[in-house]
Amino acid sequence: MTAGQQDFWEKHYRALDPGWGIRPNAVLLDMLARLDPPAGRALDLGAGHGGDAVGLAARGWTVTAADVAPTALARVTELAERNGVAAQVTAVHADLSDAATDLAAVTGGDVFDLVTASYFHLHDAAVRAHALRRAAGLLKPSGLLVVVDHASFAPWSWRGEGHPGFPAPEQTLAALDLPSAEWTTEICENRERIATGPAGETAPVTDTVIVVRRAV
Ligand SMILES: C[S@@+](CC[C@H](N)C(=O)[O-])C[C@H]1O[C@@H](n2cnc3c(N)ncnc32)[C@H](O)[C@@H]1O
Repeated sequence: MTAGQQDFWEKHYRALDPGWGIRPNAVLLDMLARLDPPAGRALDLGAGHGGDAVGLAARGWTVTAADVAPTALARVTELAERNGVAAQVTAVHADLSDAATDLAAVTGGDVFDLVTASYFHLHDAAVRAHALRRAAGLLKPSGLLVVVDHASFAPWSWRGEGHPGFPAPEQTLAALDLPSAEWTTEICENRERIATGPAGETAPVTDTVIVVRRAV
């Protein structure tokens, strides 16, 4: 990651209402309800304001919330404190796009039952796939990797002139390049959810969700 990209996210969070992104992702909760993994240790990649990390902690998980933006991390800690789960949430600064980042050092040498990435946008698809693969390598046998991405624009969101379009879930899964002998695909699909905009307006949006389970 360039310093410019880190600045981008830091500026984004300084300007962002701290009340945004504090609820757990509905698709992630739906996935947990469907697969019902026992609560254990979770790693949240690009945790933002901590909605997923704190939502998981409220459901019994112990969560490491990693992000590159210090303001986001401070808000994760505040949100965890406000929700009475501070003991279960550790906010860590990490540039997950940098292959030189020592993930084991960042995560305190933990291994995880769940690695989750909601809208974990990086500047380069190959770099993102590499970051997800590396994080997936921290999963225990039977651990789950959950990747949730946008598959449509909300009516109120930036529409990105020249946006290349959203990959199908199968394309995102293929890009992860996880060997089928070691990984089982549990979910690979589009999901609709109702999103809430800045003025409280709601609209259906589509996400892609991928869940893979580590076999060994
Ligand atoms: C679109 S936001 C999603 C935030 C949150 N997961 C959510 O669902 O609301 C993408 C997040 O990834 C973080 N991020 C971007 N590049 C990163 C990097 N290289 N290393 C770690 N985090 C990064 C950003 O700071 C931001 O919090």
